[in-house]
Amino acid sequence: MLESTLAAVVGREQVLTDPAVLAGFETDWTGRFRGRARLVVRPADAGEVAGVLRACHDARIPVVPQGGNTGLVGGGVPRDGEVVLSLARLDTLGPVDPVAAQVTVGAGATLAAVHRHVAAAGLEFGVDLAARDSATIGGMVSTNAGGLRVPRWGSMRAQVAGLAAVLADGRVISRLAGLPKDSTGYDLTGTLVGSEGTLAVVTAVRLRLVPATRRWTTATIAVADIVAAQRVLTAARVEVPGLTSAEVFYDDGLRLVCEHRGIAPPFPTAYPVYLLLDCAGDADPLISVLAGSAEVLDSAIAVDEPARRALWAHREGHTEAVNALGVPLKLDVGVPAAAVAAFERELRSLVAPARLVLFGHLAEGNFHANVIGAEDPEELTGAVLRAVAAHGGTISAEHGVGTAKARWLPLVRSPVELSLMAETKRAWDPGGLLNPGVLLQR
Ligand code: MLT
Ligand code: ZN
Repeated sequence: MLESTLAAVVGREQVLTDPAVLAGFETDWTGRFRGRARLVVRPADAGEVAGVLRACHDARIPVVPQGGNTGLVGGGVPRDGEVVLSLARLDTLGPVDPVAAQVTVGAGATLAAVHRHVAAAGLEFGVDLAARDSATIGGMVSTNAGGLRVPRWGSMRAQVAGLAAVLADGRVISRLAGLPKDSTGYDLTGTLVGSEGTLAVVTAVRLRLVPATRRWTTATIAVADIVAAQRVLTAARVEVPGLTSAEVFYDDGLRLVCEHRGIAPPFPTAYPVYLLLDCAGDADPLISVLAGSAEVLDSAIAVDEPARRALWAHREGHTEAVNALGVPLKLDVGVPAAAVAAFERELRSLVAPARLVLFGHLAEGNFHANVIGAEDPEELTGAVLRAVAAHGGTISAEHGVGTAKARWLPLVRSPVELSLMAETKRAWDPGGLLNPGVLLQR
């Protein structure tokens, strides 16, 4: 019986079957995606992950890998009696290699733990996001997470120098040398980044590190609309070499966050749109952008940590505040810069009369559309994603496809691409046991 085979691999106490305990693994953070797990298994290391996958392979039982369970597209929760493979115990933090500026960490290490760990070596990890205390590196690799620092350092893909993973049948691949140059054929690491646990289970990751930023300047800038926000951003792209973040939010979202967190807004007056810029270095380049821009209605600048954190709270508080309104429909979409203003207008008219809380990463044209009270969420999803595709955008900029958007993938991937993706899936996981229904439809 599978349960006792798994217990022999990981120890009986790491095979969870109590329904009350399973519940926390069966529902996503927003409460939108839920399913039934056969059991949850919590291996301690890559060897145990291999043993678990071999046992599930022999029993032909599908497996859903799960990290910090902060995903937003249903990719990490069970659907229909799968084994949930929790990577949470694979949280080792290897020694920082200061010469290579790299570190190897377990898939279950949280982003916050990695940030703390590498800071001691005077280095920094170039990816950051609001769910840092729970989101795990394995999950972030699997979704090619983006976050708040993409303008400077790119998405997760740009920061992965190598990884180790276990195939569906328990075989292992290990590419952790982190070689900066390697011209030996197909990029297996790159294939696994963004594969959402459908090809193999990532157990460890070799991360690139960047020099720690010693001085930060943060500004919240009030503008009249998204076009004005883009103009200020355009000037900052030219004038501010250390530009790291360019986040956008709106007055209704700001009020919601302030009420939810009990904090004050950045300005005594309300403005339609807020652009938050975060830059490495002192305030001068940013101040000259603000002084030279007719679009700036008001601005607040912070250089010390508490003041910076206070400005960031207005942006980072959105996810929690939205969720407190009820289970939202969350659409993470991206459009080319030239289409941002037209898409924003279209989005608002598609969502009305339901409530839209919009925020996102302006530099990437990445909008997070959070809809509360949609009459037919699936129909609205289709309409929004079709609009995105018509603008040459992406139906998922940074959250992944999961189960939520698998049926919409043909909007942005050609039949040739889809068939190559299906063949790739078959080559890695011929039995279709890894995260079935995620990314590619069954
Ligand atoms: C964010 O940018 O805060 C995250 O992607 C989470 C979200 O979209 O709610
Ligand atoms: Zn985001």
